[in-house]
Amino acid sequence: MRIVRSKDELRAALAPARRSGERIGLVPTMGALHGGHLSLLRAARERCDVVVMSLFVNPAQFRAGEDLAAYPRDEGRDAELAEGSGVDLLYAPTVGEVYPPGFATAVEVGGDLVGVLDGDPARRGAEHFRGVTTIVAKLLNAVGPDVAFFGHKDAQQAAVVSRMVRDLDFPVEVAVMPTVREPDGLAMSTRNAYLGDADRRRAVALSRALAAIERAVAAGTTSTPAALAAGRSELEAAGIEPEYLEARDAEDLTPADAFDGRPVLVAVAARLGAARLIDNVIIGGSKEEDAHEHPSTGA
Ligand code: PAJ
Repeated sequence: MRIVRSKDELRAALAPARRSGERIGLVPTMGALHGGHLSLLRAARERCDVVVMSLFVNPAQFRAGEDLAAYPRDEGRDAELAEGSGVDLLYAPTVGEVYPPGFATAVEVGGDLVGVLDGDPARRGAEHFRGVTTIVAKLLNAVGPDVAFFGHKDAQQAAVVSRMVRDLDFPVEVAVMPTVREPDGLAMSTRNAYLGDADRRRAVALSRALAAIERAVAAGTTSTPAALAAGRSELEAAGIEPEYLEARDAEDLTPADAFDGRPVLVAVAARLGAARLIDNVIIGGSKEEDAHEHPSTGA
C-alpha cells in the first residue's frame, strides 16, 4: 500500500490504472477505523481493481463545540488496517493541502434534505452537510473513482451525497452499504469510544428502539405515531431522551405519514454523556439488503 499526501502524487499514482481502464473504488473516511469502515473497504476490494481510501478529519463538517479536537487520530493504526483490508492507495492529505489559503468555495445541496434530522439548525445544521458535500466533491475530483462507497449508518449523509452526485453529474456510482453492528446491536461508530461503561450499556437502546418499531410495523401497525411510540418506550426504559426519533421517506426525507409499504427511514439520534449517537433502519420497500444500493445508480 502506498501513502500519498498531495493531489499531484495521488493523480500520478492513479494514472496508469486510469489509462488501462481499471475500475477505481474510493472509500472516504475520517480514520479511527472500525468494522463499519472495514466492510466498505471489503466491498471496494471485491468490486474494484484499485482501492483508494481517503483519511482526512474534515474541519469543515464540525460545528464549533463539536468534537473536532477530540476526534481520535492514529494514522499508523489506520494505515495497518487499511493495508490489511486490501487498500492500494491511502490518500492522507493535510488540512493545508485540502483547504489552501484563499479557499472560498462550497458545494451545497439545497432544500429539505439538509434541513431536517441532523441538518436541523438545533442539531448539526445544514453547514455540517455543506462541509460533507464540499469535501466529498473534492475527493471525487481528486481521485476520479468509478465507485464511491458510503455507509447506511449515516443515511442522511448518503442521501445528500447521492443527490449531489446526481444533480452535478459526477461520473461515479454511489454504493451505500449496510450498517455494521456490535454483537449487541449497537451500530459501530468512532464516537462509541466516548461512551463510559454505563452509557455503553444503555446505548443498545437505540438499536432496540428501531427493532421495536420494525416489529410493530411487521405486526400490522401502519400509523407512524403508534409505531414510533414502540421505539420511544425502549428509549425511555433506558432513560434516553432522543434528539429525534422520526420516520421519513427514505429518499427525499419528507415526513412519512404511515408505514404503507414504501421505504421509510426511521432515524434516531441521542446524546449519551460525551457521545452523540445516530442510528437508523429502513422499513418497507424491497428487502433491506436491496435498499442499500442507491436507486439512482441502477445498482
Ligand atoms: P466516517 O465517520 O469516518 O465514516 C466513513 C464511512 O464509513 C461513511 O460512509 C460512514 O457512513 C461509514 N460507516 C460508519 N460507521 C459505519 C457502520 N457501522 N457500518 C457501515 N458503515 C459505516 O462519514 C464520514 O467519515 C465523513 O463524513 C466523510 C464521508 C469521510 C466526509 O468527511
